[in-house]
Amino acid sequence: MSIDYKNIPSPCFVLQEELLRKNLSLIDSVQKQAGCKIILALKGFSMYKAFPIVNEYLDGATASSLNEIKLINEYMQRPAHTYMPAYLEQEFGEVLLRSSHITFNSLSQYQIFEGAIATFKKHNPDQPLSFGIRINPQYSEVSTDMYNPCVPGSRLGVTRDKLPDTLPEGIEGLHFHTLCENGADTLERTLVAVEEKFGDLLHQAKWLNMGGGHLMTREGYDTQKLIDLVKGIREKYNLEVILEPGSAIAWRTGDLVTTVLDTMDSQGVEVAILDTSFAAHMPDTLEMPYKPVIKGAYQEPVAGKPTYRMGGMTCLAGDFIGDYSFDKPLEPGQIVVFEDMMHYTMVKTTTFNGVNLPSIGVVKSDGEFEVLRSFGYESFKDRLS
Ligand SMILES: Cc1ncc(COP(=O)(O)O)c(C=O)c1O
Repeated sequence: MSIDYKNIPSPCFVLQEELLRKNLSLIDSVQKQAGCKIILALKGFSMYKAFPIVNEYLDGATASSLNEIKLINEYMQRPAHTYMPAYLEQEFGEVLLRSSHITFNSLSQYQIFEGAIATFKKHNPDQPLSFGIRINPQYSEVSTDMYNPCVPGSRLGVTRDKLPDTLPEGIEGLHFHTLCENGADTLERTLVAVEEKFGDLLHQAKWLNMGGGHLMTREGYDTQKLIDLVKGIREKYNLEVILEPGSAIAWRTGDLVTTVLDTMDSQGVEVAILDTSFAAHMPDTLEMPYKPVIKGAYQEPVAGKPTYRMGGMTCLAGDFIGDYSFDKPLEPGQIVVFEDMMHYTMVKTTTFNGVNLPSIGVVKSDGEFEVLRSFGYESFKDRLS
């Protein structure tokens, strides 16, 4: 669908409903064929105005904090699947009340809250609630340590040597999350490690949550292999399988629309200053790091073409991303569109330097654009005192 960017305020995250629906249909067809449950990981995509759409296709969502749990309850009208590396005592009562599945990161965490669980069950005997434990299969193909939960010293999940031969009383599920933007072949190799180390416990479990990182909406992803793997595990161990991707749901479903404010020569390098910030609005571009795609630009410098280093509007010297070439020189007022900016962006923005947060909007299936939210001074002030 062609979008008239001139009618969109800048900067603005713009979701395309049609593209979200396309991803969700594919994911729904995978979950139906595999006989599993696929839920949305809020940490990747928390645009709650889109939750009713997600709800049409998926069976819920997973949260990593009480705030995310509340968003699921409010905008999906469902209890959450919950996992946190550690729970807060003062929040745990509400976590119990608002969740259907709760995964603990360690046996000691489970032991801390066993008493609270027993009391809760006495008072809420009819609430369906199932508990699990996160395991660390010590196998991950993620090359960046920042995203690898299996490196020595990782605090995420329990290694096999720390678990008994029998699942602790009250624990019904196992959960691993070791993938990041991976294919089904990585899952296949991961499952070999999971089965090798935890196979006996899988036979005792009622459910297995295979975490996120399954990028099933990326072109070339082998969805048939994923379906076969899930079916295989489900049937072999007679358990329910849950997947909780974030990125796959919002993958390539929308952009960040920005505007050139100024251009300048800096010691022989042409620089463009945009009304956005890589540090505050697209932090993964600096953290991961990666070079986002700019619509209509050459992603690498092309000799002879106008070439610019893209800079943000904060005073941070490092608030810039690599060089791009264009067919024509950039000019103030010109629109620059960063592609694929729906996942791990809105959930990570800050008002660092006092910059405004980008607006959030949607191009609906009928082509109409709507601004859902704009931010100003109050949003900046609200975080401070
Ligand atoms: C426990 C857990 N589940 C699911 C996800 C979602 O992963 P992705 O967005 O890569 O699919 C993450 C991401 O960090 C996670 O930590």
